[in-house]
Amino acid sequence: MRFSSSDITAAVKRLRSGGVVAFPTETVYGLGADAMNAEAVRQVFLLKGRPSNNPLIVHVTGPEMAAKIGVWESETDDRAARLARAFWPGPLTIVIPRREVILDEIIGGAAVGGRGTVAVRSPSHPAALALLFEFDGPLVGPSANRSGMVSPTRAEHVREVWADDQVMVLDGGPCTGGIESTVVSVAEAETRVLRPGLIGPDELSRELGSPVVFGADVPTETGGALPAPGMLARHYAPATRSELVEIADVSALLRNMTTGQRAVVLAISPLKLSAPHTLMAMPQTAPDYAAELYNALRRADAMNCDAILIERPNGAGDAHIWAAIRDRLGRATSV
Ligand code: TXA
Ligand code: MG
Repeated sequence: MRFSSSDITAAVKRLRSGGVVAFPTETVYGLGADAMNAEAVRQVFLLKGRPSNNPLIVHVTGPEMAAKIGVWESETDDRAARLARAFWPGPLTIVIPRREVILDEIIGGAAVGGRGTVAVRSPSHPAALALLFEFDGPLVGPSANRSGMVSPTRAEHVREVWADDQVMVLDGGPCTGGIESTVVSVAEAETRVLRPGLIGPDELSRELGSPVVFGADVPTETGGALPAPGMLARHYAPATRSELVEIADVSALLRNMTTGQRAVVLAISPLKLSAPHTLMAMPQTAPDYAAELYNALRRADAMNCDAILIERPNGAGDAHIWAAIRDRLGRATSV
């Protein structure tokens, strides 16, 4: 691990003075700020260029801290507590009814007509946990990328965007998960997955002993209180034109490109390419593919080519992780 206890101390100092600290989690790097400091939270929205109606996840040390900012457990509803027992710390964000202490800025304020919920998550990365325990309070933590761009999975991805005086980066090495946490809402009678991730609906359902629905919310740009406003169609997107393709079609697609144009192909299947095109071989298993995906998209984007072609994964095993990967690929290639 690259971070030391003096890094944690320095990061906490920055957070206490209202500053912004990017921190590693097991999924992606987050843009951290004191969740109880309205000015610091506004700074996070500003840095990300995030629409104010898209609420932030609040990172907590565990259930005890979560219970201070949301309605965690009642006599009739222990879903959040059960899910946390099974999956925290880890890549699961739980949407619960909010408490009054939660800043309007975090949940989207007036823009959503008073959203009544808050999303909480306890990350398992040792640096994130060390930071949360030392800070001893909730931290907002959206993915540390500009809104709509590819999420960062390494410290250098964050440093490419912001200078140290804007965002201090706590370097915890590459993220092992690679795609953002599963978001599940227990704020209503139905348990609903709002964003697919490494933890699948079947695992959640098994833990709860009750059904979990997939909240394929209709993405709109019109504002308003979307179930998970972050789930807009185009998201996680490289700047280069990107396309999801069948492996059998790659040769024809490359032949049809204008002479002199170059493509990068992200392929799981074996493939031979000739100049000027570049092959990036992607991992075969879903967890490895997820861990590598955003780094690969960034590397492909940096090659300044004319197109990124991504083989549509049809992998067997780990069906829910492939589903989460396909969800991200769909958004990355949506126009
Ligand atoms: O893995 C992750 O969750 C990372 C790391 C840093 O923890 N964070 C992350 O945050 O992905 P962000 O802000 O990029 O994505 C949060 C997602 C968005 O889709 C947002 O709309 C949704 O969670 N969300 C946040 N609060 C919500 C709420 N109260 N109700 C419904 N959806 C909510
Ligand atoms: Mg994000």
